[in-house]
Amino acid sequence: MKQKVGFALIRESLYRKLIKPSSAPPRHYCTSSANVPPTPPLPKVPHSSKKGRLLTGATIGLLIAGGAYASTVDEATFCGWLFSATKLVNPFFAFLDPEVAHRLAVSAAARGWVPREKRPDLPILGLDVWGRRFSNPVGLAAGFDKNAEAVEGLLGLGFGFVEVGSVTPIPQEGNPKPRIFRLPNEGALINRCGFNSEGIVAVAKRLGAQHGKRKLETSSTSSPAGDEVKHGGKAGPGILGVNLGKNKTSEDAAADYVQGVHTLSQYADYLVINISSPNTPGLRQLQGRKQLKDLVKKIQAARDEMQWGEEGPPPLLVKIAPDLSKQDLEDIAAVALALRVDGLIISNTTIQRPDSVSPNPVAQETGGLSGKPLFNMSTNILKEMYLLTKGRIPLIGCGGISSGEDAYKKIRAGATLVQLYTAFGYGGPALIPNIKAELAHCLEKDGYKSVHEAVGADCR
Ligand SMILES: Cc1cc2nc3c(=O)[nH]c(=O)nc-3n(C[C@H](O)[C@H](O)[C@H](O)COP(=O)(O)O)c2cc1C
Repeated sequence: MKQKVGFALIRESLYRKLIKPSSAPPRHYCTSSANVPPTPPLPKVPHSSKKGRLLTGATIGLLIAGGAYASTVDEATFCGWLFSATKLVNPFFAFLDPEVAHRLAVSAAARGWVPREKRPDLPILGLDVWGRRFSNPVGLAAGFDKNAEAVEGLLGLGFGFVEVGSVTPIPQEGNPKPRIFRLPNEGALINRCGFNSEGIVAVAKRLGAQHGKRKLETSSTSSPAGDEVKHGGKAGPGILGVNLGKNKTSEDAAADYVQGVHTLSQYADYLVINISSPNTPGLRQLQGRKQLKDLVKKIQAARDEMQWGEEGPPPLLVKIAPDLSKQDLEDIAAVALALRVDGLIISNTTIQRPDSVSPNPVAQETGGLSGKPLFNMSTNILKEMYLLTKGRIPLIGCGGISSGEDAYKKIRAGATLVQLYTAFGYGGPALIPNIKAELAHCLEKDGYKSVHEAVGADCR
């Protein structure tokens, strides 16, 4: 009897709160009810059927059993589940406008609402480049976290390194929206963002705050055995690259990059001069022999004039386009070797439309094409550049990577490190552990003991 009254009360309160909140008269808990209007009779809420009760019971039972089972599995298995579970949200993201979906993804990563990789990278994937330790060679390319909002969350996904930017000296809006277009069947994107950036000051503030936190993490972490953990970057675990751009209206590109160096290089494990975005008029002309030589000299001088501690200044890399002639590539290689550029990123997006995408009407949108259709083109120029620079300059292979086998092909073509963007946009966090596992498998299968051993294997 008591139980029945209890249920009735709960039903009544639920009805008043959730179903008809506006029509419910305020309750007056006073002894006299003389002035209180009578409560209207409640409509009969149907009792749940036997079938419904059974279903609820079974669901609760399953949840309890699932929870109990989950509590017995080890951390690595649970982590694997979490990464796989992120695939469930991919259809929801695919439904949204690409830029809205991207914004949501960055915000989620900035708030830590993404899985955190707890499984250590396989030793075969670890490598040293520019005196920094990379736990794996798979990085997130520039353009995803343009304003350094989510560095920790993104590194926590298990990327070996994350490159933020491109950052311009003065904040700028970029091109009008829409400016990102999906070609899902082709695994590609076209973008004409045009360096939308909050500017170097906002990014420096963010990186400054994170830098302190990451440094603290380094000094307070030690392995269970009590040994010092070998960390990656200068500001803690994980490597951070900062990609510099120029303002659309600026007449003096070198001055823009120098400003970026002065403001941001103290936080960077490496710096990138991006002269290959197709969406800023005139930018790609800076890849010409003379222009590149003058530009790199000025930027190197600005960097070297600054005060540096024991670890020295961050390495300076140049990011190039995939739409370059043989002559262009020879010029860039000659400048890079002569000026001892620390690395090249090959490549940015393409303005070409390969046969695989041209039937798609979206392919007519102006902008840079990225993703699968870019793979062969960017891998070919990577190979050429590896040969031209005789393997003396670390190269980052970027363009169309969507599997561990793709990453392996880039490495065999001459890349020491690799980066991706578009495939991550489509596949989400679950892609990263898969790529790393597949890459390790490819290396082992061919008898390599490390990534370094496989670099340029197809060019020998
Ligand atoms: C929406 C979008 C924005 C990008 N923004 C930048 C950028 O600001 N700076 C840059 O150097 N590259 C930028 N890129 C190029 C990527 O870093 C990368 O070089 C290119 O997409 C090829 O890699 P992927 O095929 O794995 O995407 C952008 C790419 C996309 C799709």
